[in-house]
This record gives sequence, structure tokens and C-alpha cells, in this order.
Amino acid sequence: MRQPLVVGNWKMNGSLPSISMLIAGLKVQLSGLSEVDVVVCPPAIFIDRVAGLIDESSLVLGAQTASEFDSGAYTGEVALTMLNEFGCRYVILGHSERRALFAETDAQVAVKFKAAKEAGLIPILCVGETLEQREAGQAHAVIAAQLGAVVDLLGVESLCDSVVAYEPVWAIGTGKTATPDQAQEIHRAIRYQVAQQSENVAEQLLVVYGGSVNAGNSESLFSMADIDGALVGGASLKVDEFVAICRAAKC
Ligand code: PGA
Repeated sequence: MRQPLVVGNWKMNGSLPSISMLIAGLKVQLSGLSEVDVVVCPPAIFIDRVAGLIDESSLVLGAQTASEFDSGAYTGEVALTMLNEFGCRYVILGHSERRALFAETDAQVAVKFKAAKEAGLIPILCVGETLEQREAGQAHAVIAAQLGAVVDLLGVESLCDSVVAYEPVWAIGTGKTATPDQAQEIHRAIRYQVAQQSENVAEQLLVVYGGSVNAGNSESLFSMADIDGALVGGASLKVDEFVAICRAAKC
């Protein structure tokens, strides 16, 4: 039985007053929702503050990215061990914005995944195709390669206690979500790819969907057999929207 997971990716948004209000609202409205794991991923500078704000709640802390290196001359970067020290339990890796804007490659993301496991964090591996790739019939191949980079480097067992997020690039921040059937088709393919090497790992693996998830479309997405939750961007900044998504994830 896979416990549903909803992750809020705040991206580079928020201020000290706004994050306090957001967390206060989530704490009130999500108290008692024990059947869904809810994670918030603030900008790195706010992580320590949010760790304090979510104290004594069931909210869990995550980061949006991290360095693959332990320490050293990497100006501006944050190490996974530092995130762990400040209470992060999850880390988003290979988000399409990191891949597109910061040139992260499949191989580099796989190394980050390894470092996250070593630091004791749960990696949320983002995979997904661009519109051009989908239209060229390459969606499955692109996603298989993104996932394959991790499996080839670390073995399929590395996906235990890990999360895969399917985020079609064309659906991120566009208001244009994949239909439940489109998302389910890819989620099933991801699970099938893993099952080729381990049915046990495939059965346990959480595969969440991301890309314009909101209060209105979340329920139909979550009704699909292989969609185990969501990675939410824009809607995670609004208490009511995010709470509605979390509640819809309750199976
Ligand atoms: P969105 O972002 O929900 O705003 O589309 C999702 C994401 O980038 O994780």
C-alpha cells in the first residue's frame, strides 16, 4: 500500500511574512490529515525558518535542489548534508527548470541522487518530456533515459524510499495539465520500466504527477491507479488550493 504524497514546490517565491501565513494556514487546515504525507519545499534561504514554523505539525520539509558535492569551492551551492542538518527529509532533483535553466544533465542528476541517498534524504526525481519531444513521439524514450541514468548508476534498489515525479515540461506553470489518461499512461510506463528489474521496488515506488495541478483537477488525476500524489508549484502557494489538493490525495 503506497501512502499518497503531496509536495509543494514554492520555487523562488515568498517572503518572511508570506511564508509564515502560508504555514500557519496549512497547519490549521491539514491537522488530522494523517493518510497523506505533505512536504513543503521553500527556497533554501527560508529552510531554517520553515523548519521552526512547521514544528509540532505533520508537515515535512524538503529542498528544491542541492549540490552533488559534500563541501568545497562551489560558490552559491548548498550541500545535502547541510539540508539534512536543517531538517530536510526530501530533496527535489532534476526539476525541468534546473535541467533547462541550469544545464543539469541526466548523468549529473543521477550523481545528485546518489549523494542524496548517502546524506539520508529522500530524492524526488523529476522526469518529463518537452512539447517537441512529445510531438515527435519521444516522450517514453526521454523519460526512460532520465530514469535509466539513476538505475544504471545505482541499481534499481536505489529507488526504494525514493520518489519519481512525472512532470511534462509543457504542463509546468502553463495551466495546461496532462489529462488523467495521459499522465496514467506515463506513470504506468515508469512503473513497468522499474518492474523489469524488480517488481517489488516497482510496487512500492511512489510516482507523483506535476504540472498545473490544482484544486479542480487533482481528484481526477489521483483516481488513476499509478498516480500516487502530486508535485505542486503555483497552487502550493495558496493555502486553500494546496489543502484541497492534499485532501483529494486521501485514498
Ligand atoms: P506548477 O509547477 O504546478 O506551477 O505547474 C509544478 C512544478 O514545477 O513542480
